[in-house]
Amino acid sequence: MTPGTYWIDGRLVTDTEGAASLSAHGLHYGYGVFEGIRGYAVGGDVALFRLDDHLRRFERSAQILGIPLGHSGAEITQAVISLTERAGFGDCYIRPMAFYGGGPLGMGTAGRAAHVAVLVDEWEQERFDSEPERIRVAVSTWRRPGPDTLPLQAKTTGMYLNSVLGKREAHASGADDALFLTQEGLVADASGANVFTVSGGVLRTPPRSTGVLCGITRDTVMELAVGNGLRVVEEPVTLADLLTADEVFLTGTGLEIRPVEAIGDSVYGCGPTTRLLAHDYQKAVRGEVDGLRDRVTWLRRDTP
Ligand SMILES: Cc1ncc(COP(=O)(O)O)c(C=O)c1O
Repeated sequence: MTPGTYWIDGRLVTDTEGAASLSAHGLHYGYGVFEGIRGYAVGGDVALFRLDDHLRRFERSAQILGIPLGHSGAEITQAVISLTERAGFGDCYIRPMAFYGGGPLGMGTAGRAAHVAVLVDEWEQERFDSEPERIRVAVSTWRRPGPDTLPLQAKTTGMYLNSVLGKREAHASGADDALFLTQEGLVADASGANVFTVSGGVLRTPPRSTGVLCGITRDTVMELAVGNGLRVVEEPVTLADLLTADEVFLTGTGLEIRPVEAIGDSVYGCGPTTRLLAHDYQKAVRGEVDGLRDRVTWLRRDTP
């Protein structure tokens, strides 16, 4: 992250002040929650896409783990806005997080202080003209944990150990990202993104009951697809369905809509449906789609 300022527990501090303790419970045990929000430079302003939905999920994730945020939704929203305005970036990535802090090295959380922090970093990204960049995906040998092992609808830090293991394995095999299966062998998701197939013009994506985090981008894509007269179904996807699909793409705040180039011998490239939705999405996040303009929070871009 670019050295700078972040917000923690109501104060603005600089990176070098080191607000988190080495004995922080969140660091040792991965018991924490976070969000990832994108900001897009539009002229002299910054468009934050679906900020309210991200912060609602942040609150829900914290509630599921029982981490008291100690700040109202309005206070956290204001922290995100003022920190981002102050940072002065155009395209950027905002990371709210909550975790238990320093103290005894045991696993218990009773009596520990919870911390809420917001970080922001620059994330420059060119708008594409014709096609979005493609991604190469490898099926991970690490499977997703079952729904009775972790609260999968919370965006918890510890859950990402599984994602990072898959991503490292994917990189070692020359791919960009990992595609995870559930314990039952159904298609789940990628390390930080949901997955869609397109077959015969119908979009399919694994349902919530598969244990996937139902992403905000997944939701936006379903809305855009329906708006384009496409049919979308949420139903289990097998590996055979995936490998024989016409198109496969990933969706996530970070990746946006990303066509999957290939999985093993199955080559998809960027098909017409993926291209259409990727174009619509890059307009939506910048407040250029009529029905979705109210999902954008506009910020002033301060000169640092
Ligand atoms: C495991 C996983 N699935 C899906 C997503 C996509 O979620 P969103 O579209 O809300 O960014 C993410 C990213 O946060 C993720 O980590």
